[in-house]
Amino acid sequence: MLKKQDELRENANKLAARGKGLLAVDESTPTIGKRLEGINVENTEENRQAYRGMLFTADGLGEYISGAILFEETLYQNHLDGETMVSKLDKLGIIPGIKVDKGLRPLAGALEGETWCQGLEELAERTAKYYEAGARFAKWRAVLQITPDGCPSDLAIKENAWGLARYARICQESGLVPIIEPEILMDGSHAIERTAEVQERVLNEVYKACAQNGVFLEGSLLKPSMTVSGAGASTKADPETVAITTMRTMDRCVPAAVAGIMFLSGGLTEEEASVFLNTMNSVPRKGTWSVTFSYGRALQQSCLQAWKGTDIEAGQKAVLARAQANSEASKGDYVAGSQPSAQESLFEAGYKY
Ligand code: 13P
Repeated sequence: MLKKQDELRENANKLAARGKGLLAVDESTPTIGKRLEGINVENTEENRQAYRGMLFTADGLGEYISGAILFEETLYQNHLDGETMVSKLDKLGIIPGIKVDKGLRPLAGALEGETWCQGLEELAERTAKYYEAGARFAKWRAVLQITPDGCPSDLAIKENAWGLARYARICQESGLVPIIEPEILMDGSHAIERTAEVQERVLNEVYKACAQNGVFLEGSLLKPSMTVSGAGASTKADPETVAITTMRTMDRCVPAAVAGIMFLSGGLTEEEASVFLNTMNSVPRKGTWSVTFSYGRALQQSCLQAWKGTDIEAGQKAVLARAQANSEASKGDYVAGSQPSAQESLFEAGYKY
């Protein structure tokens, strides 16, 4: 049995608490650079500190957000006022988490463009240090894509599922709740039924690998993409079809013991991400897990635009608005359009984190 089993269960349940979700602010330095460039702010450590420090001092954010996923730099960073970012989060009642994967590499022997996710080497040593620094959960993003010529291959599914399960088990040894993230990119023009078929194969393989590795499911979280049509599909499934199909996929594949399902936004607009989540919490389903959010782009876009590098108050107001919208959506209580949002598409082909 894992030494920290009770603590893992307790923290996983706190992260998946009713009406709460995760704020994913673990963009790598080049990716946060692209976000900052969009508002004409230079990608310096100082500006990253100012931006994330603004988020972590938004009064009341902990009412909607249970955990924040950090990039390593932020876990060890101080706020401008000298206090650690971890302590700022503690004060808001937000649990700090850490992205631990080391990014994607081409998967030899698989199809063109397929990847594996690196970072298992010395992961046990790193997770022990992250726990010491205050992190209580972790994220590992494995990526699969759907193409007309056969992606994802069985090899890519197997390799990525195995990596997620190895990572999850190693994290649990150190007392970190693993977020298992098998993202299926929205790239492509396939119909929603094709996404559903692929996602069922992927999730079945992920939980088979978790069983083989002895992952403690009660102390783990799933972070899937929603079952949606390809971004380039000529007809896109409506929110109700997305919600019913996604919940069918989850009902078929996610064990009841898993503490919570926290969806990524994957390039949906801020409003779409909230409406889809709300609809998922309004249609019937069999699973009793909490169905909530772990959004990056869909929680930060209007906030970045309001902050613009200096306006702390406007930035905080914007992030609180989207956090509240998604909190309501996780209970099926969100009224579409009741909170301001950025209108533009957040989709990027071949998205890198
Ligand atoms: P998005 O919500 O922007 O897809 O990001 C969430 C995330 O953490 C992806 O790994």
